[in-house]
Amino acid sequence: MNQLFAKKPLDVLLAELKGEDRLKRILGPAALTSLGVGAIIGTGIFVLTGIAAHDKAGPAIILSFVFAGLACIFAALCYAEFASMVPVAGSAYTYAYATLGELLAWIIGWDLILEYAVASATVAHGWSHYFQDFMGIFGWEVLPKFQRSPTDFNLDTGTFISTGAMVDLPAIIIALVITIILVKGIRESAGFNTVMVGIKLVIVLMVIIVGAFYIDPNNWKPFAPFGYTGISFFGKTILGDTAKGGAPVGVLAGAAMIFFAYIGFDSVSTHAEEAKNPKRDVPIGIITSLILCTVLYIAVAAVLTGMVPREQINIDAPVSAAFASRGLGWAQFIISLGALAGITSVLLVMMLSQPRIFLAMARDGLLPKSFFGAVHEKFRTPWKSTIATGIFVAILGGLLPLRILAELVNIGTLFAFVVVCAAVLIMRKTNPNAERPFRAPFVPLVPVLGIITCMILMFSLPVDNWYRLFGWLAIGLVIYFAYGRKHSIMHAMMDKESQ
Ligand code: ALA
Repeated sequence: MNQLFAKKPLDVLLAELKGEDRLKRILGPAALTSLGVGAIIGTGIFVLTGIAAHDKAGPAIILSFVFAGLACIFAALCYAEFASMVPVAGSAYTYAYATLGELLAWIIGWDLILEYAVASATVAHGWSHYFQDFMGIFGWEVLPKFQRSPTDFNLDTGTFISTGAMVDLPAIIIALVITIILVKGIRESAGFNTVMVGIKLVIVLMVIIVGAFYIDPNNWKPFAPFGYTGISFFGKTILGDTAKGGAPVGVLAGAAMIFFAYIGFDSVSTHAEEAKNPKRDVPIGIITSLILCTVLYIAVAAVLTGMVPREQINIDAPVSAAFASRGLGWAQFIISLGALAGITSVLLVMMLSQPRIFLAMARDGLLPKSFFGAVHEKFRTPWKSTIATGIFVAILGGLLPLRILAELVNIGTLFAFVVVCAAVLIMRKTNPNAERPFRAPFVPLVPVLGIITCMILMFSLPVDNWYRLFGWLAIGLVIYFAYGRKHSIMHAMMDKESQ
């Protein structure tokens, strides 16, 4: 029992940083911020904004972006405090180990697979769609049997249907190409990411600046056709309206959906070990990338809903369709290119982050160290788990219908944010004098607001996600009791002490 709640002492964590098998320290503040932006701007803004505005919030999706952005800023301040205190690769997993004990740390580590690996598979699907659209501009087409996964999930009937295709080949290829770049090295990965981030930022700015000239304020009326709330509690709507299928609608329900667009800023904390000056630069990377993207997102949402009446917003490629509908056909090419670059960098950073979480878990003995802890001699990257992650993402992305998984990614990530906010509160009590190069302001207010806002978003998601989250965590618990509990370093330490 003691082991389940055993916490990893702060000095042990810091001492480990000096150990062997460490990653290369080459990332400065600009590279870290660029990794953050790389992970953030992608499928969320280029695809989900359309469905959320059309079905959930109307023009008030602008407020949904404000609300989700605020929830993320509270969480980001907590991440930044922790990242400056314990700049190791494990992110929320490590923070939970230091404050809440081994069992919760494992749960969060397992949960983060949803945020990184499962999100990557979802994003690989998005990449494949945009890639095929882009090829379509030149009249090229992928063979039909390689265009998509063999099955899909019909949301209306709740059943799986056959698509007639064999496999989503572009999704598999992109996952494998990214894996090769990642194994090669963090410098190559960061360099490639910077180019992609540059392209997508220019295109997002173009959308905002050009789009602003085509805004018709009448499109913003009525501003919130679905209301300002939309919270349910395990399937029962407690605030706001409900759509036909029973899912909540309104500003908060929209926020819970577009939250996906913000996921990724916290991945900066998984690169703490590769940062030149992690105590200063990781907080800078987390907060700067998030604030920058929040401002851009709010502006894109305002432009999109100002350009097109709500009923006419396209739900597959809302941004390029808005430009095409105003006679700006040339923009379709440029925006598709931006989306493709954007989604590529999201994949890159997400797939870069996952092996780093595994690495931290393997060092603690919760996963097999010879595999998940192996760092390549020449490239200094966690190569084996990078390849394993790549194969997992390729299989999931190539074969599975991932519609339902995007929301699962949201609930899993929100859960991790809640734990990190709670962990800051606990750490301030248990280790009040520890060195904190970055301190979250207004504690306890900021972490408490972080917990409340993230919980509101969790409850605003359709109820099935809760069941899926519990199912996922149950699988994780079985693995912990079968493997991690016996092999954990903490277990060995406690054994020794008791002898
Ligand atoms: N925030 C990332 C995206 O929108 C996951 O693609």
